[in-house]
Amino acid sequence: MTVQNIQKGEVLPRHLAIIMDGNGRWAQQRGEIRVKGHKEGANAVYRIVKHSALIGINTLTLFAFSSENWKRPITEVNALMELFAFSLKKEAKELHQNNIKVRIIGDKSKFSKSLQKSISYIEELTSNNSAMTLNIAANYGGRADITKAFIDIAKEIESGNLSSLDIDEALIQKNLYEPLDVDLLIRTGGEKRISNFLLWQVAYAEIFVTDTLWPDFDIKDIDEALDFFSKRERRFGMTSSQIKEQK
Ligand code: FPP
Repeated sequence: MTVQNIQKGEVLPRHLAIIMDGNGRWAQQRGEIRVKGHKEGANAVYRIVKHSALIGINTLTLFAFSSENWKRPITEVNALMELFAFSLKKEAKELHQNNIKVRIIGDKSKFSKSLQKSISYIEELTSNNSAMTLNIAANYGGRADITKAFIDIAKEIESGNLSSLDIDEALIQKNLYEPLDVDLLIRTGGEKRISNFLLWQVAYAEIFVTDTLWPDFDIKDIDEALDFFSKRERRFGMTSSQIKEQK
């Protein structure tokens, strides 16, 4: 989707979420070690973040490391942590100059102290930015996200700030790491799975799965996904004619 198309009024997702899959396969196809695929994947991250901000996406959430990814070989986990720390340091200034707010969503307590420091630095540096919010989901799980929301609500009830009668969907949603509903979920690498990503927030998301492996994911691929999205009729449980009457 080009800037011109958007000016013509094509509908953009407010919250775009991406499961970046296929780094390992990309490397294996080239006879390289998996880490090479992650490094190339980081370049795709830079491209897609820049493009998303340019076209006016409000919130972009990228699945960088799941709470299950610790089960990978230790060398791969360490390489991913290093790449993550390196990318945060390398890109902090440019993200800030582009007015992008960066947040890391997930359980940060498992990361090394130095990575936690880099995370706090970029989060504080960019906290007042408003062009786009970039959520990087790291040590993130959708069920853990919902469980954390319940725990936070229970604590508020215990301290007398809330009553159990206050519990409703809006309150649970407000307590998630990222409360905004996902409009478009993209998964690269061809698998048709949610993989415990933003479980609550994808309730009404349009889903676009592409065989393209994440390191190859380019502007034309995101444009294809955005074109798909702009043509969807989002019914939220209603009928097609009800939606047309609303317009
Ligand atoms: C999935 O591919 C990818 C990951 C588990 C890691 C994602 C990390 C990056 C894109 C690089 C760094 C991130 C940032 C935010 C700078 P896979 O390894 O599961 O691929 P496979 O299915 O082909 O094995």
